Parts: sequence; C-alpha cells; structure tokens
Amino acid sequence: MEKLKEITSGKAKSLYTTSDDRYLVMNFRDDTSAFDGKKKEALLGKGAVNNQFNAFILEHLDSEGVNTHHIEVLNTTDSLVHKLQMFPIECVIRNRASGSICRRLGTEDGLILESPLFEFFLKDDDLGDPLINDEHILSFGWAKEEHITEMKKLTYKINEILSKLFLDSGLILVDFKVEFGLLGGEKIILADEFTPDGCRLWDVKTGKKMDKDRFREGLGDVVESYHQVADRLGMNIKLD
Ligand code: ADP
Ligand code: TMP
Ligand code: ASP
Repeated sequence: MEKLKEITSGKAKSLYTTSDDRYLVMNFRDDTSAFDGKKKEALLGKGAVNNQFNAFILEHLDSEGVNTHHIEVLNTTDSLVHKLQMFPIECVIRNRASGSICRRLGTEDGLILESPLFEFFLKDDDLGDPLINDEHILSFGWAKEEHITEMKKLTYKINEILSKLFLDSGLILVDFKVEFGLLGGEKIILADEFTPDGCRLWDVKTGKKMDKDRFREGLGDVVESYHQVADRLGMNIKLD
C-alpha cells in the first residue's frame, strides 16, 4: 500500500493517507524531541530502529490478546496502521518513580512503587501535557466512562506483558506512555507507538539508562542504546 498525502506531522512521526481510507501509513522520522518539543534534534537512524522496534512490541502485544493498530511493516521507516479516532489523552504507568513524578512529589529517582501507578495526561504540548484525572476526562468529554475503564485495564495488561518481556532481557521497565483510539466508533485499540522514545528502560545490573532519557539528559549514544535493547530482545533491525 502506497502513501499518498501527509495529513499530520507530529514531533517524531508523520501520518499519510493511502488508497484505502481505513488505513494510514505511519512514518517514523529521525526527529527527536523532549520536554514537550522544547529540545529537538534529528538522530540518524532513529526512525528505522523505532519503526521496527514498535512493530516487534505491538505484534507481541497482539499475540498476548491486546488489539493494536499495527498491520504490517512496509519498509525500514514506514508501517501500515488502522486509522483511528484518537483520544486526546496519554496513559502512563510507573513501576518506579522517575521523571515528572519526582519533580511533582519530591520522590527519590528510582523508588520502587508499592504497586504500578496509573496516570492520565492531557495531550497538549502548549500546556506541557498536564496531569489530569478521570473527572477531567468526563467533564470535558474527552472519553466516556467505559473508555476510561478499558484504557486503564489495557494499560495495566500491557505493563504486565512488557515488564516480563523486558526483564527476560535484563531490562527494568520503569515507566511508559501509551495512546489509544477508537476503531469504528466503539472498539478501543492501542495506537501510536511503543519504543524507547516513550518509556524508561534501565539495565538490571548496572542501572544504565537505555531510553530517551539519554537524549533528555545529553548522555549520548541514543540510537546505539535503542539498538542494544532491540538486539537483547532478539529483534532483527534492518537499516537502509
Ligand atoms: P506528537 O503528536 O506527540 O507530536 P507524533 O510525532 O508521534 O506525536 O505524531 C503521531 C500522531 O499520530 C500523534 O498525534 C498520535 O496521536 C497520532 N496517531 C497515532 N496512531 C494513530 C492512528 N492509528 N490513527 C490516527 N492517528 C494516530
Ligand atoms: P514523565 O516522567 O515525563 O511524566 O513520563 C513518564 C513516561 O511516559 C516516560 O517514559 C516518558 C513517557 N511520556 C511520553 O513519552 N510522552 C509524554 O507526553 C508523557 C507525558 C510521558
Ligand atoms: N513529554 C515527553 C518528554 O518530555 C514527551 C515529549 O515531549 O516528547 O519527552
């Protein structure tokens, strides 16, 4: 399926129409952004590793019973996906405290939480993606009650499946963000991406950061680290 017209160009990915209006092509660019778009850089080869990383993870989730928008990888940086009606919210689960929760609650970085913590954020870079709760979502009509319940249930399930997958490769899944959309107006589907751009992964033995914090904190070897994670999980990433 060929990509026709670009309909969205986000901070790291672009979406294109196809000849079938049920499907879109998702193009993973090298562009990397953090702090809601305030820090930006193109990192050579990131689009390719993220596209194929995402396909591997979404296919694994699908095999474990989580419906995803992913259909197939088209080339190194493009994948075909189901076109969805996206919720303007982000679902985050934290197994350990890191990032914004430490700034917000004064928590020690790396603290192991008693149980996984679910948080909703509003997808709005201009507002710095503020933390919101179920009441905000209902009052503003961003999603219905049954959608909220389903998104939480699915995000916890994704956490269970992926925490195990990463731990089997010697990596701690510290936290992650996922987005959902509606297919045909009713079925909730995992959308967007699951890559080291949207999660924190620490080496079990050394605590080394293997995710986008390397970019946020200027630690270097960002794409190299993503490849190392991919290799550990047995992915066969093709380069152009
Ligand atoms: P951002 O919007 O945060 O800058 P990206 O650069 O990742 O992010 O852009 C991808 C955009 O595509 C996001 O706005 C995301 O919500 C949207 N999106 C992801 N999957 C789908 C889908 N299956 N159908 C429609 N839109 C999608
Ligand atoms: P945070 O510490 O910035 O709140 O982020 C928690 C996790 O979710 C971290 O792995 C990064 C990811 N995340 C995104 O990728 N994009 C977002 O807009 C948000 C709010 C979080
Ligand atoms: N808010 C997240 C970050 O700080 C995601 C983003 O802005 O791209 O990286």
